[in-house]
Amino acid sequence: MPLCNMRDLLNEARKGGYAVGSFSVANLECVMGVIAAAEEIRAPIIIQCAETRLKHTPLSMLGPLMVAAAKAASVPVAVHLDHGSTLPCVEEALRLGFTSVMFDGSHLPIEENLASVRKVVEMAKATGACVEAEVGRVGRGEDGSDSPTVAASLEDCFLMDQTGLDALAVGIGNAHGLYAATPELRYDILEQLTGKLNAHLVLHGGTGLTDEQFVKLISLGMRKINIATDIFRAAAMAPHGDDIFSNITSSAAAVKAITQKYIALFGSAGKAE
Ligand code: 13P
Repeated sequence: MPLCNMRDLLNEARKGGYAVGSFSVANLECVMGVIAAAEEIRAPIIIQCAETRLKHTPLSMLGPLMVAAAKAASVPVAVHLDHGSTLPCVEEALRLGFTSVMFDGSHLPIEENLASVRKVVEMAKATGACVEAEVGRVGRGEDGSDSPTVAASLEDCFLMDQTGLDALAVGIGNAHGLYAATPELRYDILEQLTGKLNAHLVLHGGTGLTDEQFVKLISLGMRKINIATDIFRAAAMAPHGDDIFSNITSSAAAVKAITQKYIALFGSAGKAE
């Protein structure tokens, strides 16, 4: 069952009317916590790392760890490159066995974004991996860097869908990191897209949204929901002392607890079989 294609997970989620959590991992403790959470409540999950974070944990080390953990899991796990910004990084992720890659060209003019995504769709064919792209713009970079929040135009969504990609992140007033106040989300954009795209809809910036917002988003077709900040904070803020081994256990347990909260909210508990 273990390492699986993200497309299969999202197809099942579409049929079942739930969303699959895509949890960002930065180290071993995050990987262990997220997978233990999914195994205990029998949920399919996605584990991901963003290119901008690889200066802390290189893909050549973190990537094989993620793939090995997915292969050893007792539930379906897809391994995804989040916010790939360069083709060499996408290429490396594919070579390491990632079953999904995102190319984020949301800062580019739409024609350039489309052209880059078409290239990545071609590259991914060699391994059968999924491809995700972004239109409009999710506010703030995954690493907290400054960038605007831009609502996706319907035209751009339909153009991107024609590239043959599998998953589409849309800017709907969402942003990475902690929100100063609960954001007003543009549900109207999703209402106009529902049932009209081949690609599965992806929500970035999950940390800090309300339970009601998640329920509404899933009812409007959101099938992959990204959570990073809450995972990283749980790992970092777990009780730590001077024994590294207790610290590892403590971080992994904190990550497991927060992951299970999200899995339950997304409706994917019990969907592993
Ligand atoms: P948060 O950090 O807001 O949870 O966003 C995660 C994300 O979208 C990663 O791409």
